[in-house]
Amino acid sequence: MSDIKKIKERIDELKQQIVEQNYNYYVLDNPVISDNEFDKLFTELTNIENQNPNLVTPDSPTQRVGGESNKAFNQIIHDRPMLSLGNAFDKSDLIAFEKRIKDELGINDIDFTAEPKFDGLAVTIQYVDRALHLSATRGDGTTGEDVTHNIKTIKSIPLKLSEFAPAGLIEVRGEVVMHKKDFNLLNQRQKDSDDKLFANPRNAAAGSLRQLDPAIASSRPLTFYAYSIYCDSHKLSTQFEGMDLLKKLKIPTTNLTKVVTGVDGLYKYYNEITATRKDLPFEIDGVVYKVNSLNYQDELGFVSRAPRWAIAHKFPAEEAMTQIVGIDVQVGRTGSITPVARLKPIEVSGVIVTNATLHNEDEMRRKDIQIGDYVDVRRAGDVVPEIVRVIKEKRPKSTKEFFMPSQCPECSSSLTKKEGDAVLRCNAGVECPAQRKQGIMHYSSRKAMDIDGLGEKIIDQLIGNGLLKNFSDLYKLTVEDLENLERFAIKSAQNLVEAINKSKHTTLGKFIYALGIRNVGESTANDLATNFGAIKPILEANYDQLIEINDIGPTVAEAIIIYFADKTNQLEISLLLDSGISFKANDIAYTTSTELQGLVFVLTGTLPSLKREDAKLLITRAGGKVVGSVSKKTDYLVAGEEAGSKLEKAHELKVKVIDENQLIKLTK
Ligand code: IVH
Repeated sequence: MSDIKKIKERIDELKQQIVEQNYNYYVLDNPVISDNEFDKLFTELTNIENQNPNLVTPDSPTQRVGGESNKAFNQIIHDRPMLSLGNAFDKSDLIAFEKRIKDELGINDIDFTAEPKFDGLAVTIQYVDRALHLSATRGDGTTGEDVTHNIKTIKSIPLKLSEFAPAGLIEVRGEVVMHKKDFNLLNQRQKDSDDKLFANPRNAAAGSLRQLDPAIASSRPLTFYAYSIYCDSHKLSTQFEGMDLLKKLKIPTTNLTKVVTGVDGLYKYYNEITATRKDLPFEIDGVVYKVNSLNYQDELGFVSRAPRWAIAHKFPAEEAMTQIVGIDVQVGRTGSITPVARLKPIEVSGVIVTNATLHNEDEMRRKDIQIGDYVDVRRAGDVVPEIVRVIKEKRPKSTKEFFMPSQCPECSSSLTKKEGDAVLRCNAGVECPAQRKQGIMHYSSRKAMDIDGLGEKIIDQLIGNGLLKNFSDLYKLTVEDLENLERFAIKSAQNLVEAINKSKHTTLGKFIYALGIRNVGESTANDLATNFGAIKPILEANYDQLIEINDIGPTVAEAIIIYFADKTNQLEISLLLDSGISFKANDIAYTTSTELQGLVFVLTGTLPSLKREDAKLLITRAGGKVVGSVSKKTDYLVAGEEAGSKLEKAHELKVKVIDENQLIKLTK
């Protein structure tokens, strides 16, 4: 045997042993060899590879840490959007969830998988021909960040799948988490080195995964749990079968998933998990139920980014008691004036809370909140903490009532309240420094224009120096403007200008969201982009056109009309577009042709070749619209195999029924 052949064989042997030991250690939690023996294997492999650099493959365990630091994360557009989940809080929500599904499918006994809802960071991991190829964060569900380098440092994630894994593309989705004990150790380490402490395991996991330097990510104890798998060349029929396949492929997943039937089954599982929650090694914030049959999942589809076939049953938010030491008012991005309670610091679900929103004056009076009161405070996920109730029995004699100001605390304009509106407002717009600052912070935030490095302190500085008032001023900033400012050097000035320029290439949905139109969140902004396909028709849209869109009601439609009718806003938008902002395709927000302009489609049953999402894309890209249920307004029902009640309804209303082939022809 030639030398080189022998070396290759030894490399393969070592790789295999290391992969196996990693699996025993990180996934099964059951090491079979000592750390010392493991180190020996690893050192031998590293030495051989150092002497034979041409034999190093990307799936070698030595490549988990390595590569250069990324300057920034590349954006990845997800082939299939990464959806979010609707929430259920009690039994009546579960009954409604099951009923919707039964009605839609016309079937009585539905099997669900019930699984823990991991409190971490969603990622997708793609294997191509069994080798780990790419990994990205969920991001906004459409576009995420390339975190392949860092994902490769998580030892429980295989870099290469075994031979019996299906060939072609395999996409695994799941959650990166930090185990509770690892989180405590990490925070101890941070404390010892005088570094910032993480608020909770989820923040620590997210902060670690988004490290530009994989060596730092590698030093953070991250874990991964997969909750779904998709294979191009192997059709699965149930969610549970997917979980089995994950285990066979040695991809870490949970053993807690069960198949249950009916609302009682769901509720029983929820109670079981509630009882074991504190003993689990990781944090969970609820459980997730999914229709087990993948054909039914396809049939049910999704609305506004959340599947109809799944729901998260959330644990109730935690509460704790503390005292109000003062009340201030805050000016919001759109001029709303909100009273905020300053609290004696208190820990609620692992986070120190010092402020709680009081929403508005009416709410404050309704709860009879006074300065000095003892109150119960609640925190639910990322939501701003709020006061649940005043503990009247403990009210000290010295409490003081709080009255809202008549002038804006930031710009002294007089405050107004519209009739029937609970919220007091400052109407000075960008002339009010608070609104200007928050508007720009929103504009540059990750889900909007995503300008890396433009944080609150820099915005303060730029506003203070008179360099920044409107969004469009950002695009006039030069390296010279910035490098003379405090905390800037030539490199950081160049980086910021580069990040601002990079943000010009965005999606229409993100741009609309970035404008900060009142009542227009991310989902509505994307709806506008999908339905109109370009900026001009959005600017010109009238009330009737807006109200036609799913999920847009009178209040939102009115807010949009008011915003675009404003001359200052019109001027600002044209300045932004003149500065070179352009829109790339995102999965939904673009139209490439107009064959189906104005036509309304409903999809039902399993189509022979197109997946539900692809069929949707085909229609929206040709200018058509896809809605969930058949009505008189429907132009076409696209029906596949096992079409149910929608087909009957279409016949009843004489809606034209077509198959996949006819749909494809229509779009050509
Ligand atoms: S399923 C199509 N299963 O929850 C449904 N998600 O609110 C979307 N999550 O970002 C994912 N545990 O990262 C699913 N067992 C689980 C989950 C889970 C945690 C996260 C997920 C997503 C978020 C949705």
